[in-house]
Amino acid sequence: MTKKVTKIGVLTSGGDAPGMNAAVRAVVRTGIYHGLEVYGVMRGYSGMIDDDIFRMESRSVANIIQRGGTILKTARSKEFNDAEGRKKAYDNLKKRGIDGLVVVGGDGSFRGAQRFSNEYDIPCIGIPGTIDKDIAGSDFTIGFDTAVNTAIEAIDKIRDTADAHDRLFIVEVMGRDAGYIALHSGIATGAENIFIPETKTDIEELVSSLMEKEKRSKLVNLVVVAEGDEFGANEIAKVVKERMPTLDARVCILGHIQRGGSPSCIDRVIASRMGYHAVECLMVGRHNVMVGILNNKMNYIPLDKAVKAKQRINPEWMKIVKILAS
Ligand code: F6P
Repeated sequence: MTKKVTKIGVLTSGGDAPGMNAAVRAVVRTGIYHGLEVYGVMRGYSGMIDDDIFRMESRSVANIIQRGGTILKTARSKEFNDAEGRKKAYDNLKKRGIDGLVVVGGDGSFRGAQRFSNEYDIPCIGIPGTIDKDIAGSDFTIGFDTAVNTAIEAIDKIRDTADAHDRLFIVEVMGRDAGYIALHSGIATGAENIFIPETKTDIEELVSSLMEKEKRSKLVNLVVVAEGDEFGANEIAKVVKERMPTLDARVCILGHIQRGGSPSCIDRVIASRMGYHAVECLMVGRHNVMVGILNNKMNYIPLDKAVKAKQRINPEWMKIVKILAS
């Protein structure tokens, strides 16, 4: 029979994502609802190693559902990659009697959780929190919707000035090695071209299409590029300027603005659902899984699968981009 959990820890790890606070709130309040003691761990796995752990009450998470960032702070801990670091972390949880852990983060954080739960008797539950949406087994990751809406708002503004000056704008968005932010924000802003790491980037094809558009006097063009693209915005702009010296082209790298801000409704709701179900998993002995949402239903996949698998880009979406931008 599975041992019943009594005390749980919660941490946020990796790049912050809007909605992480809503997830922490849900974990804390669901834990308390079940009569558990809940502990917050500061700065991800670093706080576990440094013993920066504190007891949380219902009031500890008041007034945070609307806030970006994470009240628990976050970090990418190198020390947790070493067995010695993980042992220290275990000892610090164990001395408080913590017997379950909820990790809100991305695939790097899940790799850490997987290793930790393989070595020690503390089950871990993962909640996908990353703006990159690069986790399989869930239609959503916390923060993606907000980040993509931030990108859309910025790109719409860029289009205004691009239009006023008849310019080409090449906008680079985040996503690490995944193209979801670029694909979604590009489609939503009517970008002429979208370049993502999952598909081959053909700059020559871009140049020909720009030349063809120039002939039609279509001078305003918007290209959205994922930061993980094989060339990147600056290199694409360089080649385009060499080939079309009269074209007025500018690069805009959106950067960390995409990580901040108040979470969208979608991010608050999925974070609340995932946080609630993460605690439910610990309660019923469903261990070492990531809590995702697929087709609006909860979906539980083993942490190691969430780590390895990458979602695939639907090629139809790229076709849609081409047709709609003509
Ligand atoms: O994983 C989230 C993310 O924002 C990526 O899109 C980006 O590549 C990376 O983190 C940036 O990390 P940092 O804030 O450490 O520069």
